[in-house]
Amino acid sequence: MASIAVTGATGFVGGSVAAVLTDQGHDVTCLVRRDPGPSFPWPWQIVDSGSTRSLTEALEGRDAVAHLAILNDFALMYADRRAGWDGYVGLTERVVDAANAVGALVAYVSSDWVFDGRGHLYSEEDPPNPVNLYGVMKLASELVVLHRAREGFVARVGGVQGLHQTREAGPRNQDAGFGFFVLSLVDSVSSGGRYTVWEDPHINNVATPIVAPEIGALLGRAIERRLDGILHLAGGTCVTRRELALATCEVFELDPGQVDFGALPDEARLPEPVPFDTSLDGTVTMGRLGTVAFPLADQLQSLRDELRTGRPVSLS
Ligand SMILES: NC(=O)c1ccc[n+]([C@@H]2O[C@H](COP(=O)([O-])OP(=O)(O)OC[C@H]3O[C@@H](n4cnc5c(N)ncnc54)[C@H](OP(=O)(O)O)[C@@H]3O)[C@@H](O)[C@H]2O)c1
Repeated sequence: MASIAVTGATGFVGGSVAAVLTDQGHDVTCLVRRDPGPSFPWPWQIVDSGSTRSLTEALEGRDAVAHLAILNDFALMYADRRAGWDGYVGLTERVVDAANAVGALVAYVSSDWVFDGRGHLYSEEDPPNPVNLYGVMKLASELVVLHRAREGFVARVGGVQGLHQTREAGPRNQDAGFGFFVLSLVDSVSSGGRYTVWEDPHINNVATPIVAPEIGALLGRAIERRLDGILHLAGGTCVTRRELALATCEVFELDPGQVDFGALPDEARLPEPVPFDTSLDGTVTMGRLGTVAFPLADQLQSLRDELRTGRPVSLS
């Protein structure tokens, strides 16, 4: 078992990663920028993420760092380009330099939005071509890891579904991406309401959904195997938003008659381009990890189990 530091563990994906790595028996420490409060479930340590020295001290004696922290504010990254760049690329440079200084492996979580969305089932070898600043900064951060880290890998994820581990009611709203899509539908339909699935050529419409706990399990495997290069941590089924909505009704035993399909409301339209089809082919990666890309029905069942028990359920 490894000693693993996690950045971004107070966030959506990072919380599930910290939970699953802990469940796997790894010694996890979450690097946070402020006291996360008494109910925060995992060991934590405050770091100054603007300081390579502070990060180096925090990584001393660790085998790896799972780096998920980002400045997750689409409007701000455009309004303040320097802060945006630093919240992605600068932060990743500091994490990589700190990891190099102590001999730790860097496990960098990236995004399917590095692709332009005009392809289908992108492989690990396909050249990225981001269409917005978020994608540019994720790609630039990937290159920092691939070319500057002594040891490490880039793990692209997309269509991520799951429960926020440390926030009571996560922000379960449909948006231009796939994050929280399933639970926002489940929330509405299970309480008797109707849910409109947005269908629009200018939003992310095709993905290979994966549950956040499975990302944690796959990262654990990749760290144990000390993999390098680019990994695609993808679910095994490529779906449109419409198909995902109907599959959700089936697995969660909800009435599909309460689901409508309609136009994207103007207020939800992002002012910048969004990739349409960001489905990822994870076949090669799953072979390297000694597992398979689990189909959508399994991913959704794991989410349903997590919703029922409150405990993250990984598949691998
Ligand atoms: N969510 C998705 O659907 C999705 C899809 C593809 C890829 N990803 C990738 O997954 C990773 C996590 O995304 P997420 O959706 O879980 O994000 P999130 O919920 O917004 O969490 C962001 C995390 O980053 C931390 N953070 C932000 N700025 C920081 C700084 N300067 N120093 C230290 N920590 C900082 C935040 O800490 P505070 O609590 O202190 O603010 C929080 O823990 C990202 O790399 C993202 O690109 C996510």
